[in-house]
Amino acid sequence: MVGSVLMDRMQAENDFALIDPVFFSTSDAGGKAPKFATHETTLLDAYDTKALSACDILISAQGGDYTTAVFQKLRDGGWNGHWIDAASTLRMADNAVIILDPTNKPVIDAALARGGKNWIGGNCTVSCMLMGVGALYKAGLVEWMSTQTYQAASGGGAKHMRELLTQYGTLHAEVAALLRDPKSAILEIDRMVAAKQRALAGDEVANFGVPLGGSIIPWIDKDLGNGMSKEEWKGMAETNKILDQKPPIPVDGFCVRIGAMRCHSQALTFKLKKDVPLADVEAMIAADHEWVKVVPNTREATLQGLTPVAVTGTLTIPVGRIRKLAMGPEYLGAFTIGDQLLWGAAEPLRRMLRILIA
Ligand code: HSE
Repeated sequence: MVGSVLMDRMQAENDFALIDPVFFSTSDAGGKAPKFATHETTLLDAYDTKALSACDILISAQGGDYTTAVFQKLRDGGWNGHWIDAASTLRMADNAVIILDPTNKPVIDAALARGGKNWIGGNCTVSCMLMGVGALYKAGLVEWMSTQTYQAASGGGAKHMRELLTQYGTLHAEVAALLRDPKSAILEIDRMVAAKQRALAGDEVANFGVPLGGSIIPWIDKDLGNGMSKEEWKGMAETNKILDQKPPIPVDGFCVRIGAMRCHSQALTFKLKKDVPLADVEAMIAADHEWVKVVPNTREATLQGLTPVAVTGTLTIPVGRIRKLAMGPEYLGAFTIGDQLLWGAAEPLRRMLRILIA
């Protein structure tokens, strides 16, 4: 899915015209290559390290298992090209930079100057968050941040999106007749929905493990055994690595899967190092880069511009609900949303390619 979004974006931005692209596949070697392929007309074998080694730059949207299978083999075989991927395998390695250039171009430039070759897209939640409020970190204003996430089904993958929609359909079908009757009792509908959710068969919850349609799941990724999910751990680890921030700024909170399609949302609480007027905070966020958009903290503007439905399929990163919290003038609240397949996955990869070939 990330690969398809990446291809769409590269096509839309005319990236293929600037490179000699060769296409590899893990499952369809020998199949027909996309029309942008200038040399080969067929897909090459993505496990053929000799063919891979002929490339100056490799971009993979294949996931961690593929990176684990080929990356070290390529390096051990003497390949010294640039590796770009979106998997977590290499993300925290000392010789890898987590790429999010609107936020950390200086970190990327410094690594390039040192001869860096490994460029890894960050966790989608972290990338979308920093695209929204990175300005506060860049200004050195953040003492700590707590994030409560509302993560879409797409973060799990294509099958998860299908499973969510199928569950919605199943639940609707269960009570469709009662819904058509305006006089039917809502508590009866509610009882039937709950009974159906609890009765969903194994294959109906195969990907999420429990129903997500009409529910939430407050755990994402592995159990680290210390009370934290791996997704929650990434929040602090990756935020600080992206920014090359030392000593690290504490970032913590809860990561929750909700029934949205492909936009991750987050409610953020900041403790700032000082009391900064709200207008200055808004101006700083708005001026960070061309994709961030401050949504006025009103009901109407929030409903129109600050929902996954408003943001999905776009590169816009809205930041709204910006206000001082009751705990004191240094406590700031905000809410931000990003399409996790765009800024959260594909976009930083193609932008890194552009940086390398500039
Ligand atoms: N771990 C993320 C999620 C996927 O499950 O939503 C993107 O990094």
